[in-house]
Amino acid sequence: MPPKQRSVYRCAECGAEHPKWGGRCESCGAWNTLVEEVVATKRRAGGQADRRSASPDGPPPVRLSEVSTGRLPRLHTGLTEFDYVLGGGLVPGSLVLIGGEPGVGKSTLLLQAAARLEGAGVRTLYATGEESVEQVRLRVDRIEEDAGPVLALAEVRVDAIIAQAAAVGARVLVVDSIQTTYTDDLDGAPGNVGQVRESAGRLMRFAKASGTTVVLVGHVTRGGMIAGPKTLEHMVDTVVYFEGELTSGFRVLRAVKNRFGSVDEVGIFEMTSAGLKPVANPSAMFVAGRAVESAGSAVTAMMEGSRPMLIEIQALAAKAGFGTPQRVATGLEHKRLAVLLAVLERRGGFPFHDLDVFVNVTGGVRLIEPASDLAVVAALVSSLSDHPLPADALFLGEVGLAGEIRPVAATDRRLAEAERLGFRRAFVSSRTRARAGVELVPLAHVTELAARIAA
Ligand code: TYD
Ligand code: MG
Repeated sequence: MPPKQRSVYRCAECGAEHPKWGGRCESCGAWNTLVEEVVATKRRAGGQADRRSASPDGPPPVRLSEVSTGRLPRLHTGLTEFDYVLGGGLVPGSLVLIGGEPGVGKSTLLLQAAARLEGAGVRTLYATGEESVEQVRLRVDRIEEDAGPVLALAEVRVDAIIAQAAAVGARVLVVDSIQTTYTDDLDGAPGNVGQVRESAGRLMRFAKASGTTVVLVGHVTRGGMIAGPKTLEHMVDTVVYFEGELTSGFRVLRAVKNRFGSVDEVGIFEMTSAGLKPVANPSAMFVAGRAVESAGSAVTAMMEGSRPMLIEIQALAAKAGFGTPQRVATGLEHKRLAVLLAVLERRGGFPFHDLDVFVNVTGGVRLIEPASDLAVVAALVSSLSDHPLPADALFLGEVGLAGEIRPVAATDRRLAEAERLGFRRAFVSSRTRARAGVELVPLAHVTELAARIAA
C-alpha cells in the first residue's frame, strides 16, 4: 500500500508549519510566504502509538546467554529409578504428569517420593482428592519410608489446593488426582475435559510463577485413554507412565515426554508388601528362577530406552481339543504371534496349525520390539520338538515374512548385558556384525532353527 500523503504549508521566512493555507504566516506575520509541501502521513508516529498501546506489561525479552539457570538444580526424590526416568530428579517449577491404570501404584510411588523429599528438607504437600487423609495414613504405615512429616490435604478445589501449597511454602505439590480437582468457575463435573484442563492450567501457572514442582496423577483406563492424561500431555513438561500387569509385582515407569531429559528411559520397580522397591538389576530378576530344563523357554534382550534388559519368553504348544486351536499371548501382541506362527508353518514347515499355542512373557513385561521374534520362534520350536534350549543361550533377531532372520539394533549392548549375566552364546542373524564376549551362532533362516537348537 503506497503511503498516504497530505499537504502542509511552510513559511519561507521563518519555517513555521501550518496545516491550512493562508495569506499570512501566523508565526512571523509575513504575507504570502506559505509554500505547499507534500509529506507522507505520520504513519511512523501512528505506529509508535500503536506499539505503545500494545506495550507488554510482562518482563522484557532477554538474551538467552544472560538467562540464569540457577533455578534448575533438581530435587532428588531419592527413589533412584524415579529420578533416573525424570532425567535426574524433579525440575523446580515444572509440571509432571504420572499416568497409569488404577491400582498400579501411582499413589504409593508419590507418597514414597514425598516422604523422601520431606526427609531431605524439601517441603512437600500431598493433596488428595481420591482418598481421605485417613486412607493415605494407612498407606503410610505400609511403606518403608517415614512419610509421617509429609503434609496431606484432602481437597478437590484447585484454587484451594494452590492457596494451601503457597501458604505452607511447598516446593513440591502432589495432586492425586487431576481428575478429581475442579473449579466452580466452570460448569461440569470434576473429571470432564474442561475441568481437567482448567485445573491443570491453573496448576501450571502456579508452578511457573512460584517455582513449585507440581506432580499430577492422571488415571488411564485399560480400554483406552480417558479425558485425563492424553489431553494434558501437551501442557505439561514431563509425562511419565506407570505400567505393569497388576497380577505381577513388576512395574515399569516410562517417560514418554520430557522437556528436561531423554524419553523412553524406564525405571523398574517391584510392588512389595512394604511399597515399591526399585529393581536395580532387572535382567537378573527377570531371568532368575527360570525352568532351564524344560522345553519352550527362551531368553532375549530387549531395549528399554538405552538399557538392555533380559527377559524370558515361554511357549507351550499342545494338542488342540476341539474346534479352532487357541492362540493365547500374554505380553506379546496377538497379531505378532499369528504372523510368527504362519512363518514357522509356511517357511519352516513346523506343524502348528492343529495345536493350541500359548506364549507368555514373564514378569508382566510387554514385548514391543521385533528383535524378540527369534526368541519367540525358538521357544515355539523348542516346545513343539520338546527339546529344551541351551540354558546359556540368548536369542536375538527379527523374523521376516520369508522366514529370514534379520539383525537388530543395539546388538552390542544387548550382548554385553547377556554376557554380564553369564550367558555364553547368542543365536543371532547371520548378517550380524558384532564383537562380543559370547559365542555367536549365526542363523539365516527359520528352517535352520531345529537343527541348531538340537546341536
Ligand atoms: P496405589 O498406589 O493405591 O495405586 P494407584 O494410586 O495407582 O491407584 O496402589 C494400589 C495397589 O498397591 C493396591 O492393590 C495395594 C498395593 N500395595 C502393595 O502391594 N504394597 C504396598 O505397600 C502398598 C502401599 C500398596
Ligand atoms: Mg491412587
